[in-house]
Amino acid sequence: MSEPLLSVQGLSVSYGRVSAVREVSFEAHEGSLVALVGANGAGKTSVLNAVAGLVKPRAGTIRFESRDITRWSAHRLVDAGLVQVPEGREILASMTIHENLQLGGWHRRATSAASIEAIY
Ligand SMILES: Nc1ncnc2c1ncn2[C@@H]1O[C@H](COP(=O)(O)OP(=O)(O)O)[C@@H](O)[C@H]1O
Ligand SMILES: [Mg+2]
Repeated sequence: MSEPLLSVQGLSVSYGRVSAVREVSFEAHEGSLVALVGANGAGKTSVLNAVAGLVKPRAGTIRFESRDITRWSAHRLVDAGLVQVPEGREILASMTIHENLQLGGWHRRATSAASIEAIY
């Protein structure tokens, strides 16, 4: 089988002294869907936030497109194409639709105007 698009190995996340995720490993291959299933507080959000660069793992390795991205910042991951889409209507209500689209397409810079046109 080809190398996975996303590979998480031995991931651990802590908040201070609270251990939230202990040695989680999984892989996602291109074109596949992977579900994390668990009770409230099991650590699903912590795993996703670690993958998205929003929390720093205590241990483990995260690889995306064959690169070690474990310590990458969230904005660098977005530039690389790894994006977390939060549930709910996550728009900024004080901004216009156009401004929301511009903000969402910020990382695409030169091509964002064409994308926004296509969305309209
Ligand atoms: N910011 C935080 N500070 C301290 N503890 C947290 C924080 N976020 C989550 N936790 C704790 O980490 C554990 C996993 O939470 P979480 O990742 O939100 O689980 P899930 O998404 O599966 O409900 C829980 O015990 C939760 O209370
Ligand atoms: Mg959650």
